[in-house]
Amino acid sequence: MPGRTAVLKWGALLSLLLFILLLGGCRRQEESQNDAEEILVGFAQIGSESGWRIGNTRDMEEAAVRNGVRLMMEDANQKQENEIRALRSFIAYNVDVITFVPIVEDGWTNVLQEAKQAGIPVILSDRLVSEDVDPDLYSAYIGADFTQEGRNAGTFLLKKAEEMEGETLGIVELTGTKDSSPAIQREIGFHEVIDGNARFVMLDQMSGDFLRSKGRECMEQLIERYGDQIDILYSHNDAMTYGAIEAMEAVGIVPGRDIVIISVDGEQEAIDLLREGKINCVVECTPMLGDLVFDIAKRLAAGETVPKMTSPKEAVFTEYDDLSDLPPRGY
Ligand code: AHR
Repeated sequence: MPGRTAVLKWGALLSLLLFILLLGGCRRQEESQNDAEEILVGFAQIGSESGWRIGNTRDMEEAAVRNGVRLMMEDANQKQENEIRALRSFIAYNVDVITFVPIVEDGWTNVLQEAKQAGIPVILSDRLVSEDVDPDLYSAYIGADFTQEGRNAGTFLLKKAEEMEGETLGIVELTGTKDSSPAIQREIGFHEVIDGNARFVMLDQMSGDFLRSKGRECMEQLIERYGDQIDILYSHNDAMTYGAIEAMEAVGIVPGRDIVIISVDGEQEAIDLLREGKINCVVECTPMLGDLVFDIAKRLAAGETVPKMTSPKEAVFTEYDDLSDLPPRGY
């Protein structure tokens, strides 16, 4: 006959075993519930034309992990047809939500209709589609207010012009990818503010496709054509601005002094050039959209109604500001 102590020991051991088994069961149940909640999002990115874009891709990848979202990402390599193919593959895969950056505004209606027929909600991320596209074909837009960014650039110029000499001031504008929403709206916002002021003379406008190499090429041509008539450069993104600065320095023009430079994005390199005096104003456009996108994606997958348009608050950094406390930009 086993003694009383032995019985107690065995009893305690058995209870412990039971407790461990129960705990394991609960964990497995919890994990499978989490798996069931984890949504699959298809994301079509346009490429890697700028530091901004690379930062945007990184942010989307990191935010997907932070938000417990499975991400299926395709890089369209700057081609709309590749993006459309990626969207069709997401539909075939029956993802829970699609998000994509429309490289240009037009040409999306058919594929958006296909997503709608498949019952997959679509989020426009960073760029907009044309106003002619039926807004019922997408659930939300998350990205900048590009028109406001253009206005911010124009507002800085009005202030800067007060201290500039010369009866008239010649402006050249480097625009982004033709027919893309940031290029269209940054132009509109800027001109909304400066047009009608007789002191500003628009000399020319060229598309540098948001690329550093094209920014340099365009600026070389503009300098050749207009020489010292150029007083101001308004560049739709930092990458093109870097190229334009290279073109200026190659012919002895001092950027930020001989030509006032207004750039858009707010990459670390641009802020450093602003501190050096080579850029006069940087209008912020944040690429950190991932958390907003995945929060909306999860709400859409849960059948909730979401806001149609969400634009993060953005800053303007100028030569008049004290930037000593500005934290690293992260892109
Ligand atoms: O759509 C946002 C724009 O695209 C950024 O200003 C630019 O740098 C990027 O390539």
